[in-house]
Amino acid sequence: MDSIGKNIKLTLSGASHAPSVGCVLEGLPCGFKLDMDAVRFDLERRRAGNYALATPRREADDLIIVSGIKDGVTDGGPVSVTFPNREHDKNAYSPVARPSHADYAAWVKSGGAEDISGGGRYSGRMTLPLTFAGSVVRQLLKADGITVFSHISYIGSVEDAPFDPVMERAPELDPFFPLVDRTKREPMERLISETRDRGDTLACGLECAALGVPAGLGEPLFSGVESTLSRYLFMIPGLRGIDFADMRVLGSEMNDQFADGGRTVTNRSFGINGGIANGMPLIVKVRFRPVPSIGLPQTGYDLIGSKPVPLEIKGRHDTAILPRGAAAVEAAVCLGLYDLLLDHKRES
Ligand SMILES: Cc1cc2nc3c(=O)[nH]c(=O)nc-3n(C[C@H](O)[C@H](O)[C@H](O)COP(=O)(O)O)c2cc1C
Repeated sequence: MDSIGKNIKLTLSGASHAPSVGCVLEGLPCGFKLDMDAVRFDLERRRAGNYALATPRREADDLIIVSGIKDGVTDGGPVSVTFPNREHDKNAYSPVARPSHADYAAWVKSGGAEDISGGGRYSGRMTLPLTFAGSVVRQLLKADGITVFSHISYIGSVEDAPFDPVMERAPELDPFFPLVDRTKREPMERLISETRDRGDTLACGLECAALGVPAGLGEPLFSGVESTLSRYLFMIPGLRGIDFADMRVLGSEMNDQFADGGRTVTNRSFGINGGIANGMPLIVKVRFRPVPSIGLPQTGYDLIGSKPVPLEIKGRHDTAILPRGAAAVEAAVCLGLYDLLLDHKRES
């Protein structure tokens, strides 16, 4: 199933080299005025080619609204959108599975029936409709006083300063290259550029925060904040790790001592205890693997001939999933939080 959600339902469709990718988002209120420029801005943050050091692929990401939004206002029906895939080069891909991409596993799963060119349904392109849906829901969260933002915590060996876990407002962040310490941009960009020139790729990480999350949000046991957000987040290809706490070795270092109003002094629990939001800033740290398509000689797997073969990838690829992936992570967090918020509002 390519659907998710309890109180909302998001279905993604299409694939990297299909005619289009898109989504259907159900469960939104009727009559909500959307800021479509803000939605387009989030899409632009994710777009391939928005930034000199990202992939040289140029994707137009034209948004076609099929239903559910009329003159920028939700009509209560399913919000259905599609994005034509114009900028793909089928010849850049071959029936040889790339090491550590989803090609081999997807081929086996579908018995060879699925078009896995360009990564198929497992491509970063699928984060385009995810980002759209998250951006819409971000505006609904904002109407309830919840804001979601993120910064790049590291690219390769270059680290940014962390968010202040007890912050009361968001720091100023450049939406296209969000950093707490802006002086880290230059060494990060230098590293991306040097690594790309060597034909290699980089691991990277992001810290995403939500302010204004009400204490008590989250359902016990199987639908806590961590498990709900994880289900949305792990849709993002290349995302391989999530931390929901600033982990320490000793309990005495880890425990958050209380302050007035139920706030805590340190928030090493990142705003969650027992799967339930505790009212402090909610922080999620994610880690992306290095992009699997590297430009160096490797051993791939010939899917037709069923044998390992030499492989040199010639396509146009990202060197690191960030900064493009930041909008997708924020989208997944927004969708998970909104789904939980609808339960919370019913209860309170
Ligand atoms: C925004 C974004 C862009 C990506 N760009 C590429 C890319 O250019 N080349 C590539 O091989 N993988 C890229 N990936 C990662 C792969 O899609 C991912 O590693 C692959 O589907 C395997 O999934 P897994 O790493 O989660 O196992 C990108 C992912 C995202 C989220």
